[in-house]
Amino acid sequence: MRKKIVAGNWKMNKDYKEGMSLFSEVVNMVKDELIGNQQVVVCAPYIHLHSLVALGKGTRQVSVGAQNAHQEESGAFTGEISVGMLKSVGVEYVILGHSERRQYFGETNELLAKKTDIALKHSLKPIFCIGETLAERESGKHFDIIKSQLAEATFHLSAEDFAKLVIAYEPVWAIGTGVTASSNQAQEVHAFIRKEIAIQYHQAVADETTILYGGSCNPKNASELFAQPDIDGGLIGGASLKSRDFVDIAKVFNS
Ligand code: PGA
Repeated sequence: MRKKIVAGNWKMNKDYKEGMSLFSEVVNMVKDELIGNQQVVVCAPYIHLHSLVALGKGTRQVSVGAQNAHQEESGAFTGEISVGMLKSVGVEYVILGHSERRQYFGETNELLAKKTDIALKHSLKPIFCIGETLAERESGKHFDIIKSQLAEATFHLSAEDFAKLVIAYEPVWAIGTGVTASSNQAQEVHAFIRKEIAIQYHQAVADETTILYGGSCNPKNASELFAQPDIDGGLIGGASLKSRDFVDIAKVFNS
């Protein structure tokens, strides 16, 4: 059975003190309330990560992730953070290819292929994001876009390495807008992604790949989205900034 994951992406929110208290609340609620095998991942700003790993220690269902990493091992890249540094403080996951990184920081599929390689080399688990813009969906190009994002950034991997990825489908038009993809729209794309993985690798690899939905996911719409056969959890932005909402989303997998 593939892993169910609810990952929070705090983006550039919460100062140190606020981040520690939000995370502590999440950890306590997870301990008290989660009864399934779902994994909760909190992807926080870099400066919080070391302390969050310490706070989460011993809570089996909670992991800590970064929101980005540099594609080189080390060197003269002022202001950047390497995967080795993340690994050295106990970080387990890293979001790669978030649409905000693609849009505001010019990250291309080619660059993301390098980031994926170096993350896997250091045993960090990528949460690899793909998704179309509104214009791409309206012109009927969304399947082509998703296919090329996957193919150009991840299909060079061996089946063994690909199996270490978590994929997140995040339609750009649904991120932070309050407009969620309908469960049918999301399921249609998730099934397409799984089919492409099966074509490239093997049905068994596709069946084991966790594919998350992201984009205005909240405690109200999560149950319907997560009930779809190919949706294995969510990547949560806004709603991950409130412990109650975030853990309520993770609790969908209690039943
Ligand atoms: P949102 O963000 O839940 O606020 O739409 C999702 C994301 O960007 O990962």
